[in-house]
Amino acid sequence: MQIHIFRDAQLAGRAAATLIAAQLLRKPDSILGLATGSTPIPAYETLIDMHQTGMLDFSQAVSFNLDEYVGISPEHPCSYHHFMQEQLFAQVNIRPENVHIPDGNAPDLTAAAKAYDAAILQAGGIDLQLLGIGRNGHIGFNEPGEHFVYGCHKVALSQSTIQANRRFFETEADVPRYAVSLGIGSIMQARQVLLVATGSDKAEAVRRALEEDVSPQWQASILRTHPDVVFLLDEAAAGKLRHRP
Ligand code: PGA
Repeated sequence: MQIHIFRDAQLAGRAAATLIAAQLLRKPDSILGLATGSTPIPAYETLIDMHQTGMLDFSQAVSFNLDEYVGISPEHPCSYHHFMQEQLFAQVNIRPENVHIPDGNAPDLTAAAKAYDAAILQAGGIDLQLLGIGRNGHIGFNEPGEHFVYGCHKVALSQSTIQANRRFFETEADVPRYAVSLGIGSIMQARQVLLVATGSDKAEAVRRALEEDVSPQWQASILRTHPDVVFLLDEAAAGKLRHRP
């Protein structure tokens, strides 16, 4: 496990982009696990810049996103389909057929979730998984609970997540109550994991993940058992760590 602490969120994001770029330069047909939310935006901005200046080519890259809300259309401005299109895909040369995002409108969500896991395996498994972290320690939408869920699955969002994501919607009532998320098993099978955490509202989750026992109450804590995980933090998110690297 490696932990790097940066001055601010912008630098943490640029560091994440640097590691993703290194992965793509070494293996142009990498399978990337991608994330949504505010946290990865500086990383995506940097990747777009690297692409537009001619340094980075996405033409062979394959992506699998972590999660999607249940019950809003892919065109909805708050859907993760829409987010990825706006924040990354439309601005780099990734092929639309190489992009995968869970279908939150599948008539049979369980079957669709199984098919999503199978598609990742068939593609060869995720080379590099980018993650944010929720205030409650979730990764993807794996919410605090009694156990770790292995495969892709439908999740009931916790009140903490609904409130955190309310800022993207007009009212709290508009925030979807369910999502489809990659499970902890699929995330842990990624060959390399990059977790980016920025801002003081993530400091407790980061401390729990890094300094308390591994527990499904703080799902990100499982990452400490991953053989190749890098935590990229800004000073604010690292603010509650007792042992700084
Ligand atoms: P955020 O979300 O980047 O918008 O803070 C991260 C998460 O909930 O995983």
